[in-house]
Amino acid sequence: MTENTQRNMTVVVTGASGRTGSRVAESVRAAGFEVRAASRARGFDWEDPTTWAETLRDADAAYLVYPSDVGAPAATEGVGALAREAVGLGVRRLVLLSARGEEQARATEEALKTSGADWTLVQASWFSQNFSEGPLVEEVRHGGLTFPAGEVREPFIDVRDIADVVAAVLSSGERYTGRTVEVTGPRLLSFREAVGEISEATGKKLTYTPVPPRAYGEALTRFGVPAEEAEFLVEVFEGLLDGRNARVTDGVRQVLGREPRDFAEFVRESTAAWT
Ligand SMILES: NC(=O)c1ccc[n+]([C@@H]2O[C@H](COP(=O)([O-])OP(=O)(O)OC[C@H]3O[C@@H](n4cnc5c(N)ncnc54)[C@H](OP(=O)(O)O)[C@@H]3O)[C@@H](O)[C@H]2O)c1
Repeated sequence: MTENTQRNMTVVVTGASGRTGSRVAESVRAAGFEVRAASRARGFDWEDPTTWAETLRDADAAYLVYPSDVGAPAATEGVGALAREAVGLGVRRLVLLSARGEEQARATEEALKTSGADWTLVQASWFSQNFSEGPLVEEVRHGGLTFPAGEVREPFIDVRDIADVVAAVLSSGERYTGRTVEVTGPRLLSFREAVGEISEATGKKLTYTPVPPRAYGEALTRFGVPAEEAEFLVEVFEGLLDGRNARVTDGVRQVLGREPRDFAEFVRESTAAWT
């Protein structure tokens, strides 16, 4: 596909105000595509199927990110139904952000694969930006992190690399159609080491306190998370953080021909988030 053809192509970017979607919009635009940003403020609601057609109509491709968790039962239904509607409207090229090693996400992935779409799955490791944006940032800013990750090591990925991978996948014609790309950062770090690097870069004393997943779930319910959602998160964390993901992949290099950004680079550029 030439850049000229891409210039005439419109990509719907869901979650466009979120961590990955905002960067995907930038990367996809930089690759020469038109971007149609989709989020609730722009009239697109995953929970209201009547809003989908308006967002999808006349587009050529879509980046799908299901809010909160790709493994939630509602995600399986939502992604499957939206993908079938997209295909019906002629928007066949769909790229779904999924989670690496998350058993609960397999049903959602399957729903996309059986929708008739020209699909690509981008299975990502834990985001570096979980420490600087979203629900954990306040805690990190105020002294550290209590989390059910024990001393397990994770290859944190910079969401900008996910965005570049999505743009490259969309720019590569059929090359990644019907394929799963597993993307991670370049280095394994425990959550203790990650918090330690943030502590060193900011000069703030930050501590990491590991807790059992079940105790973490109970704390979530005390903070108002519905019991069912907390139970789901406990199950997801028990799986994701049991050591199965303590392995680096070369997915970013395979797609982009360059190494993924290191956690240290992310920390250097994000100190404002913690100060
Ligand atoms: N965190 C990780 O380490 C990790 C790793 C791998 C995969 N994932 C997957 O990444 C996904 C989350 O992606 P993210 O972190 O980029 O998202 P995010 O930063 O949590 O943002 C969520 C986005 O979804 C939009 N949104 C929320 N509710 C919506 C609704 N009902 N209808 C339409 N849009 C809605 C939000 O925009 P508005 O509020 O403006 O509508 C926002 O743009 C999940 O599926 C998760 O499983 C996460």
